[in-house]
Amino acid sequence: MSEWSGFHKLPPEERIERLARHAHLTPEDCESLTGGLSARTAEPLVENVIGTFALPLGLAVGFVIDGENIVVPMAVEESSVIAAASHGAKIVAGAGGFTTDVREPMMIGQVELRDVRDGKAALQIIAEQRLVWKERLNKLIPTMVARGGGVRAIEGRDVGGGRLVVHLHVDCRDAMGANLVNHLCENIGDDIAKACGGRRGLRILSNLATERTARASASIPVQALGGTSVARAIVEANEFALVDPYRAATHNKGIMNGVDPVVIATGNDWRAVAAGAHAYAARDGTYRGLTRYAIHGDELVCSLVLPLAVGTVGGMTALHPTARTCLKIMGNPGATRLAGIIACVGLAQNLAALRALSTEGIQRGHMALHARNVAAQAGLEDKEAERIARQMAAEGLVNVTRARELAAGLD
Ligand code: MEV
Repeated sequence: MSEWSGFHKLPPEERIERLARHAHLTPEDCESLTGGLSARTAEPLVENVIGTFALPLGLAVGFVIDGENIVVPMAVEESSVIAAASHGAKIVAGAGGFTTDVREPMMIGQVELRDVRDGKAALQIIAEQRLVWKERLNKLIPTMVARGGGVRAIEGRDVGGGRLVVHLHVDCRDAMGANLVNHLCENIGDDIAKACGGRRGLRILSNLATERTARASASIPVQALGGTSVARAIVEANEFALVDPYRAATHNKGIMNGVDPVVIATGNDWRAVAAGAHAYAARDGTYRGLTRYAIHGDELVCSLVLPLAVGTVGGMTALHPTARTCLKIMGNPGATRLAGIIACVGLAQNLAALRALSTEGIQRGHMALHARNVAAQAGLEDKEAERIARQMAAEGLVNVTRARELAAGLD
């Protein structure tokens, strides 16, 4: 039996105790799970601080990733998300778990050149100068170079209309890397423009981090999903998201239901990750679902690839006490490992959603959890809230008025 079976039935204090034993959390770590960010720590982070904003933090359990058992903290307000991730994880764990394949933590910085008269000649100059520029830029970031990162390549792209873009490929190791990349682009921009004969435009990283993708994959016996017909229905549901952008947006939203909560819980920039994921989903000119499913023999083979620019050092990951504890819960992964974990949560979430949508629909499971929220909104607590939530879900009538009616005995 799994270390985590029955976890969802425990009261929160006992869940934290069990987690503390598992992840060797100190009393201070445990406190950070509910205490979070103090106003004093928040003060230098943004302007005009007036407080902090809390979200529920839950634990998705049952993941096996590259042979390692792992539990994943998720900061999210939507009911069903953590239950669905754990459900997807359990199905995949029974089939041996997820495997990941994560590329080097390479960000792309852009220097834009405008009014370039001779694009071909400018591309030639970039090719000739790139090693000199690379060496010069790496001298600016000795600590990153000492950690094994730094500028790896510089290349030009002619995007037409006299506009050229120079890409700096920067290995950011365990940092997300936005500041580092912007610093490099700003430093070299004018010199590149002078050498190429154009007018210097913007100097900024690209959130379409195509060099920093993470792949999560799994192979699941169709029997574990409820048989071949369910597996086929999942493949067809995925095909829908590959051909229709309206469905693809919802499909990818479901993937981001898994991705964003881990990105947030670890203090990372969820807007950057979301922008990258959606741009990647449209990379061939049509916006499509990010996952792929196929049946091979008796197995449903599924995968998710998306850019994941996340860090485990610096910025909020270092400053936010809850983010530090969340990383500790996952065994203090480096940036590439964290990206792999996040991709698996996205795939687990999508698998659970497609399975539910292809069979009974999501409303029954969702309603049971939503009813608990509504009972709480109606001011009900503990056993009474549970009882009334169950009754509302069974009736299919879930709202605050009904909760109050049931609580007052008005059947
Ligand atoms: C709801 O938050 C997410 C789903 O709509 C995703 C999907 O439709 O694939 C269930």
